[in-house]
Parts: sequence; structure tokens; C-alpha cells
Amino acid sequence: MSSLIVVGAQWGDEGKGKVVDLLTDHANVVIRYAGGHNAGHTIITGSEKYILHLIPSGILHRGKLCCLGNGMVLDPEAFLKELKALDKRGVKIGKRLKVSPDIHIIMPYHKTIDLESEKLRGKRKIGTTGRGIGPAYVDKVARTGIRLADLCDRKVLKDKIEHNLAEKNFIYKNIYKIGTLDGAAVYRRFLKFGRLLEPYVADISKIVDDARKKGQNILFEGAQGTMLDVDHGSYPFVTSSNAIAGGACTGIGMGPTAVDSVLGIIKAYTTRVGEGPFPTELHDDVGEQLRDGGSEYGSTTGRPRRCGWFDTVVARYSNRINGFTGLALTKLDVLDPFSEIKVATGYRYKGKLLKEMPASSEAFSEAVPVYRTVKGWEKSTCEARTFKDLPPRARDYVRLLEDLSECKFQIISTGARRDETILRENPFGKGRGSRRR
Ligand code: GDP
Ligand code: IMO
Ligand code: MG
Repeated sequence: MSSLIVVGAQWGDEGKGKVVDLLTDHANVVIRYAGGHNAGHTIITGSEKYILHLIPSGILHRGKLCCLGNGMVLDPEAFLKELKALDKRGVKIGKRLKVSPDIHIIMPYHKTIDLESEKLRGKRKIGTTGRGIGPAYVDKVARTGIRLADLCDRKVLKDKIEHNLAEKNFIYKNIYKIGTLDGAAVYRRFLKFGRLLEPYVADISKIVDDARKKGQNILFEGAQGTMLDVDHGSYPFVTSSNAIAGGACTGIGMGPTAVDSVLGIIKAYTTRVGEGPFPTELHDDVGEQLRDGGSEYGSTTGRPRRCGWFDTVVARYSNRINGFTGLALTKLDVLDPFSEIKVATGYRYKGKLLKEMPASSEAFSEAVPVYRTVKGWEKSTCEARTFKDLPPRARDYVRLLEDLSECKFQIISTGARRDETILRENPFGKGRGSRRR
């Protein structure tokens, strides 16, 4: 029995979907614990491509139970749409998808507030996905949120919608100067969602506990990435949930002792979507080459991703915040054509050399990376199935990143397909107390 958290080590889109899909072979249950349909997790199986936003990336494996934890926010329409699309493509789900009754619901006003507040922020905008994620978490913390259990109770739902709309409609009218929402129509629509979602409701915390007692393997699928975490990311340019490994405990309902291992997913370079500091960002042809080579366009919004070199300050920070027991290095193949590759080893800020992430967001945005330059391997890595198969310079690059990140790369991914993977160590394998370098 082993439980493993898979978490993004950078700014999201590191390839979590591919790795979770691969590791589902070794798992009985796959559970998401944070975020909502701001996520876009891509899985390529043969000639088929799936992009999952809400449903865990283990769903393509028959017989595996997939769950949505209380730490997520759920847009019922997006959820039902995703279910329908999977069904159309022949993915049989039946009873193997469960949702926490405590999950917070994204209401129509959350999406409007998300879009309108971005407009009001002007130059200070965050570059959100516009899906209502932030405002739904705001209401959760403000204790006015509507949870899935509420959709299944007529009286509670009616009361909550009336109460919430009194405030939201005031904001619509007086601040955004837009038409207000009709409470009765919202109530009818969400009551219907309640009926459609009720069959999926289950106590996810209990599912985890039971699975542990049965000695099963559990996979906790992170969304977004460490640098987008609301507490430990590049605040305020973050999402509104705890994307880090620690978020799995609150986002599911289990103690830290229920977690055996933490696998960070990290790209061989860096990308970011939306606004905010990104020290190693490249605004030149090299950045373009990374974007083209890595098809770096958002899986959710289609926005071009900002691209730059690997940042070991971010990697080390991420290792500290999440307590990785191992890392999966993805998209190494994207660096195949480069004759020269750079790696940030620290930052220069106001004449000082920084080895750690600066505390203030202002300092982070002004930090200038200090690079180590290495020679590229200029050969294809896609066919490599063992570490030894990689060209010598690619191996040197991996070892350099491992040393600077202070963590072992258990998996190396050299393509989007399942088989384009080097499995050096099974991340489930060692469990508690495994090596952390
Ligand atoms: P996630 O949000 O972390 O699941 O990542 P996304 O799915 O948003 O973005 C990762 C993209 O890279 C997807 O298009 C994947 O199919 C692709 N991908 C994953 N691993 C690799 C890899 O090793 N090499 C290449 N070239 N593409 C990869
Ligand atoms: P996956 O799980 C990359 C970014 C948005 C924006 C910020 C806040 O696919 O890695 P939000 O809509 O969450 O309020 O937007 O967070 N963001 C992501 N970037 N990958 C993601 O998910 C993201 N989810 C949110 O671009 O900068
Ligand atoms: Mg993504």
C-alpha cells in the first residue's frame, strides 16, 4: 500500500496529466484535491488526445476509481460537458466517479465577477482563465459559498441563492453597471444540476481511508503548480487554491501521515500563462523556439505560454515547499535541437546574489537570473527508454538539474506519448522515508 501526491513544481502545465495517466497503472484510486476547470491536463493515448479539466487523469483506465475532493471548485455545466464528451468517445465511467458533497460550486456570478474584476484591475490584471475560480474560493472563505450538498436541498439552495444574489446584484448594478441575475432562474437551473450530480456524491475522505485499510495504492493529482499556490506562489499572480502537496490533506480530508511520497512534475525549461514575475522568461527567438517546439499554448484557454530557461531557484524552492521524494522531468525532447542551453542557478538583485526565492513579489519581478550555459546534445531523445539511451550531453544536463534541484529525477519524459518515458524508479515504490537529496 502506498499513497503518492503528484504536484506541479513550476507554474502549471508541466505534464501532470501524462504522468498521472502513466502512474494510474499502479493505482487503485485517483483523486484531485485543488482548483477547478482552470486546469487542462493532456493525455495522449495512441492517436487519441484527451484534455481533462475537472475529471482526474486516471479516468481512461478501466476499473480505476476517480474522485473530486472538497478542495476543488466545481462548475456543474463544465463537469457534465466533460462527462458527456468522454462518454461520446467511449470512455465508460459508470460508478467509478465520485464527488465530495463539500465541493464548492462555481455560480454564474463567480464567472462574471472574475471577468469584471480583471477589467477593473487594468494593468494589474492577473490573467485568470476567466472561469470564476477565484470568486468561488472567495465565497468559500467568506462563508457564503454554495456546496454540492446544498444543490440537493431545495430549501437551503433557494435561501442561499436569494441571500447571495442580494449582494451580487448590488455589485452588478452599482459597480459593474450590468444587468442583474434572476434568482428564480438561477435556482431552477442549479436545482436541476443538483439532481444530475447527486448520483456522484460520496465521502471522499472515507474512500481514502477505506482504500488505505484495504492496502490499495492512491494517487493524488495536483492541478496548477507550486508557483501558482495562493500561499506559497508568486502572489498576487497566483490561483486561489492550495495547489501544493500540503493542499491534498485539506483538499481531501486526510492527515499528513496518510501520504507516503510526493512526486514533483517539472519541465526541462519553464513556462507560465497569465501575468506575473518570471525571471528566466525569454522575449527573443529562443523563447519562440521553445514555444513552437513544445507546442506551448494553453490546454484550457489556448493562450500562448510564456517560455524561458529552467530555473533551479524555483526547483529548489518547490522541493522545500512540497517535500518531494522524487521529480519527473518532462519535455526534455523539446531541448533536442538547441546547441546551447542555459540554466538559472541564482538571481542578481540590487547588486546581491540570491540563491533563494526573494520574499517580496517586487524583488522577484526585478530579479535577474544568473545562468550556467551548457552545450546541447542536438540529437533526438524521443526513442530513449532507459537513462543510458540518452545522448551523453542530455544525461549531463539531467544530472546538472538533479544536483541543482537537490532531488532525484525518478521519471524522464521525452515525448507526449505514454511510451516516450524513462522510468528510473517507481515513485510509488519506496514510500515513506525514501531518498530526498
Ligand atoms: P498539465 O496541466 O501539467 O497536465 O500539462 P498540460 O497538459 O497542460 O501541458 C503539457 C503539454 O505537454 C501537453 O500538450 C502534453 O501532451 C505535452 N507533454 C507532456 N509530456 C511531454 C514530453 O515529455 N514531451 C513533449 N514534447 N510533450 C509533452
Ligand atoms: P494546470 O493544472 C497553468 C493560471 C492562470 C492565471 C492564474 C490565475 O493545467 O497546470 P485562475 O483562473 O486560476 O484564477 O487564474 O493561474 N492558471 C494556470 N496556469 N496551468 C494551470 O493548470 C492553471 N490554472 C490556472 O493562467 O495566471
Ligand atoms: Mg495544463
